[in-house]
Amino acid sequence: MHQTISEFFQTTYGQSAEVVARAPGRIEFIGNHVDYNGGKVLGAAINRFVTVAVKSRSDRRLRFVSAQGGDIVEMDLDDLTPRSGKVSWVNYPVGMLHVLIRDGMKVEQGFDFAVTSDLPSGAGLSSSAAFELSTAQALVALYQYPLTLERMVLLAQKAENEFVGVPCGVLDQAVSGFGKQNHLVLIDCREPAFSTLPLPDGVHFWIFNTNLKHSLVDSLYATRHRECQVALRQVQTEFEEAAFLTDINAAQLQALAPGMRADHFSRAQHVIEEHARVEACEEILMGGGDLAEVGRLLFASHDSSRRLFGNSTPELDALVELLAAEPNVWGARLTGGGFGGAVMALTKVAFSEADAERLAAAYRHRLPAAPEPSIFHVTTGDGACRLL
Ligand code: GLA
Repeated sequence: MHQTISEFFQTTYGQSAEVVARAPGRIEFIGNHVDYNGGKVLGAAINRFVTVAVKSRSDRRLRFVSAQGGDIVEMDLDDLTPRSGKVSWVNYPVGMLHVLIRDGMKVEQGFDFAVTSDLPSGAGLSSSAAFELSTAQALVALYQYPLTLERMVLLAQKAENEFVGVPCGVLDQAVSGFGKQNHLVLIDCREPAFSTLPLPDGVHFWIFNTNLKHSLVDSLYATRHRECQVALRQVQTEFEEAAFLTDINAAQLQALAPGMRADHFSRAQHVIEEHARVEACEEILMGGGDLAEVGRLLFASHDSSRRLFGNSTPELDALVELLAAEPNVWGARLTGGGFGGAVMALTKVAFSEADAERLAAAYRHRLPAAPEPSIFHVTTGDGACRLL
């Protein structure tokens, strides 16, 4: 029988939880690798969550347990350092605690902590941001630390950047924090500023997880981040006032092509054109939503990630190609950092479980050596919140 977080906490620690909070995973709708380049991105929170429970202790110990297995991990409040190996999953809650303390949250006593999740990790659905945001919601309640959602989101990003060590932008944390049912979250990463855009009726999301992830995914992400920084420095030799790649347009970049290394140029071209696609999507959705046009932008986004940003894989490409041939699919693209992970498809209501199965069979036929993809039909959901 499925155990609730409260039952899991109770059986592990022999006491009831004091606070329970959860935060959703997210779909990156469009805006691939645009967030840390200062542009706008669109995401959707989904109805799959990381849920955490906490109870304060009378000493300065911390204990962490995960329903996904492994022993209880213990540490001391005075030794908040990143862990490696099998227990590195605790870096998300410990990192969150660390940045909250640095922000001014008073923590005199430790806590017992438990986590459950129905969000697959490594699927490009950002279980890490959901873990950070659910922890943040629980800890600010436990220690009665007043914090705006905006600040919470930025601190969660900081935990990921500085404690976990991934130079991610703010997309994942913002969507997990600001998600709203039947809406997309629009993030202007320059400010940053957060808002929501209603989705037209009858829109469905399907996730096809390749269950493959490049072993160097974090370092590849960091490499792309660095390449964008190098491209920006080159842009700044001509456009001094450009603070981000998204400050210039495609024609301005084109003029710089002769002096740029081809790969740096491609990365910048992807970012600038992708940002234009996000703005086009925003405009269409604000005007009621021509979904066929949105779908074309999604396919164009994938194509650009593949050709210019170099973060797709043959498996992701095969899924997108198969989805493009489906009459009930508006659009599809890789979602998240890339180098493996998942494809998301925006579909009509008529796209069915049988269609998804048929597609998976065609995928198996095309790539017989690839692992079986996992398929999820998800709906949009609300952002991080306290449950108890
Ligand atoms: C990951 C990062 C995000 C974003 C995407 C790519 O999900 O965590 O900040 O950069 O990749 O768009």
